Amino acid sequence: MNAEELMKEAAKAAENAYAPYSKFRVGAALQMADGTVITGVNVENRSFGLSNCAERTAIFTAINLGKKDIISIAIAGPDAWEPLPPCGACRQVMTEFCPADTPVYYDNGNGGFISSSVGELYPANSLMDMAEKKS
Ligand code: THU
Repeated sequence: MNAEELMKEAAKAAENAYAPYSKFRVGAALQMADGTVITGVNVENRSFGLSNCAERTAIFTAINLGKKDIISIAIAGPDAWEPLPPCGACRQVMTEFCPADTPVYYDNGNGGFISSSVGELYPANSLMDMAEKKS
């Protein structure tokens, strides 16, 4: 699956977002090594700080399904008006499971997407190579 197709999966997932407080829906899609796609959405809470981002929902879902070989990540925000790079917490979680060269595609807020990588989004991470050593 190419980047455009993975972004479409993320956008489709965003329809399931639970975002009654921010009204800002986000969907994430993970291309897995076994060819499957695992998605996630943001899940908010009336105690705002408990809200979970789409990216972490997707990654935690993958782990829950017994899969952790993530090939690439797409993040779509149908309500975004500017680029939507992942938050710091999600970047940290990505480094737990993804090598630095894992592609990350995120919504540019204008109908397209920006191509980045886990390492570009989370540089100077001394533990980065642990993601490759863990099995
Ligand atoms: N959000 C995500 O799910 N992913 C991001 O990359 C940025 C923000 C969510 C969190 C919250 O539910 C809403 O978007 C507004 O910040």
